[in-house]
Amino acid sequence: MSNENNHSEPLIRVSHLKQYFPINVGFFRTKPLKAVDDISFDIMEGETLGLVGESGCGKTTAGRSILHLYKPTAGEVIYRGKPVKTKADIEEFRRKATMVFQDPYSSLDPRMTVEDIVGEPLDVQKLYKTKEERRDRILQLMEYVGLNSEHAARYAHEFSGGQRQRVGIARSLAVKPDFIVCDEPVSALDVSIQAQVINMFDELQEKLNLTYLFIAHDLLVVRHISDRIAVMYLGHLVELAGADEIYDRPLHPYTRALISAVPVPDPVIARANKRIEMTGEIPSPLNAPPGCPFHTRCPYAVDGCKESMPELREIEKGRFVACHRIEEIG
Ligand SMILES: Nc1ncnc2c1ncn2[C@@H]1O[C@H](COP(=O)(O)OP(=O)(O)OP(=O)(O)O)[C@@H](O)[C@H]1O
Ligand code: SF4
Ligand SMILES: [Mg+2]
Repeated sequence: MSNENNHSEPLIRVSHLKQYFPINVGFFRTKPLKAVDDISFDIMEGETLGLVGESGCGKTTAGRSILHLYKPTAGEVIYRGKPVKTKADIEEFRRKATMVFQDPYSSLDPRMTVEDIVGEPLDVQKLYKTKEERRDRILQLMEYVGLNSEHAARYAHEFSGGQRQRVGIARSLAVKPDFIVCDEPVSALDVSIQAQVINMFDELQEKLNLTYLFIAHDLLVVRHISDRIAVMYLGHLVELAGADEIYDRPLHPYTRALISAVPVPDPVIARANKRIEMTGEIPSPLNAPPGCPFHTRCPYAVDGCKESMPELREIEKGRFVACHRIEEIG
């Protein structure tokens, strides 16, 4: 977790971002799958913003669209006060913003050595003048992630999951980014090594002044590393608040249900937090319900919830919630 003093200006501002995928639904007919549907938030310099929600709610798509790995359907991303719009803007932004992927098994070429994998972005961006400089930089990157020079000549397939994830992170750091989208970087790892890798993200943030968008569905993982947490449901943001606040006192009915589902070791706390059960399955984003996207599963839903979409509103300082009935349900 980062130093509070760094949080002065947004590094990244996401403004009304939409990502719709055209899906074939018959002869020459397509329908938009609204994977990300109008999300807005800021990420402050040096901050970690956690992004959570069930499988398919649009977390990865949001991360990819922010980085312009997908061209957004609408909305914009503002980096250090400047909209990322033209081809040149996107190229410049890509040098400063990168992604660490979920699966360390599929995101690295097993036939490449660690030196080749980490060195490739240096080659592509021509970030060195001599062979020695290249080698020194690779060793420095490996050291950042807890690998040593003996690992350089080995192949990715020789490594454990945790080590592969470290190689992937070293590769991401090669271009000296200041913003990293971490897409479930520990979900595929053994529980026993998840904490080590999370700690490494923390240390790297301090050392290199990084800003993270940290995607996960495990709320416990996100709570530890995040300063603030954004909760996504069916392509929308439903709540955004400080990590501890959201965990200790979730407000949106969906966040309450997610927190209820996390096992609590202490029975006193477990009793104090009334359990909220969701009913039914998450709807398909191809057939999203009208009005509040959560109304089909919300225990507090009333007829009005089906009619209009609740805006994400700041209901207490720094706490944003999208629910028509938030004042009533307390
Ligand atoms: N390239 C694509 N083309 C069409 N539909 C897509 C594409 N990528 C994602 N989707 C759809 O968009 C929705 C959001 O997917 P996304 O992968 O962003 O969710 P997620 O929250 O990252 O899920 P998970 O937790 O499983 O990783 C899903 O319905 C998915 O099927
Ligand atoms: S707007 Fe209605 S359906 Fe949506 S979360 Fe609030 S109470 Fe539930
Ligand atoms: Mg995903």
